Amino acid sequence: MIGTNLSQAVKLLKQGQVVAIPTETVYGLAGNALDIKAISEIFHVKQRPSFDPLIIHIANLSDAHKWVKEIPQSLLSLAEQFMPGPLTLLLKRKLIIPDLVTAGSAHVALRIPAHPLTQRLLQQLNFPLAAPSANPFGYISPTQAAHVQQQLGEKIPYILDGGPCPVGLESTIVGLENEQVTVFRKGGLAIEAIEKFLGQKIQVKPFSSSNPEAPGMLKSHYAPHTPFFLDQLSVVLQQFKKEDVGYLSFKDYSTLLPEAQQIRLSPQGDYKEAAQNLFAAMRLLDNRGLKGIVAELLPEKDLGLAINDRLRRAAAR
Ligand code: TXA
Ligand code: MG
Repeated sequence: MIGTNLSQAVKLLKQGQVVAIPTETVYGLAGNALDIKAISEIFHVKQRPSFDPLIIHIANLSDAHKWVKEIPQSLLSLAEQFMPGPLTLLLKRKLIIPDLVTAGSAHVALRIPAHPLTQRLLQQLNFPLAAPSANPFGYISPTQAAHVQQQLGEKIPYILDGGPCPVGLESTIVGLENEQVTVFRKGGLAIEAIEKFLGQKIQVKPFSSSNPEAPGMLKSHYAPHTPFFLDQLSVVLQQFKKEDVGYLSFKDYSTLLPEAQQIRLSPQGDYKEAAQNLFAAMRLLDNRGLKGIVAELLPEKDLGLAINDRLRRAAAR
């Protein structure tokens, strides 16, 4: 069922069931992070491998000490500045957080979502919510309740509808490596915003298909079913009939295809708007029965970095 009934969501979560919840980044598939059965159900519903750890979600930074041992000063200042918001921090977990949540790691990923409905939800619970994005493993993340309904609707008792996600990209994951502030996943909080706040450059981990240290960094991820290309449209059109190809661009239509086969992420060239529209646009093109989708990379700055990361992973097979 899909709806806006907060008490229904609270009730189900207290019973140990899983519920899809809105966040400002993407929809999450949530369950009690302290309940092994609820967490197992999340992995089962998503068909997610158990080596890929989950983010825990709480309402307030002042509660963080219940679940993590400490917040190093450099990360605490980031937390105070950017939480609630599209930022996740990797912190030393307390043992009350089950191994299954962290895939055995000594660190747990912690996030404070800003979405008002989910804030109210979390305030009514005395446990954190473990929540991966609410999509089948490897597919595009959902940014609308209907996206969750289409893929997981049969498998879960409730989808809390909080409207379309205003950020549209998963959270930026930050932790320490050799005591340096490090970005482990590019996301909805731009790296420039973090650097500007800290007054220094920060290191960014490249994605890889063989980096079990950051499992969400699996190379092939966020992938549509339709073959997805980052090559020049003209090159791909040599392989396929015109009517079998879709084009996803940043702001301009290509003259090589009818406009009906194209989606522009932001005609104004606005990075925020492009991020908001990205996953819904990929889904729309994926549902058109095309033989190929070609995407244009954005300039490598601002949220263009995270958008390009998702486009590259969608194209990696
Ligand atoms: O915006 C978001 O972060 C969304 C919403 C629902 O909060 N959640 C999300 O979760 O994107 P998910 O499960 O799709 O991605 C979680 C990723 C993992 O794949 C992994 O890369 C990283 O977070 N992660 C989680 N726990 C970790 C840990 N203990 N150590 C290292 N990386 C971790
Ligand atoms: Mg995900």
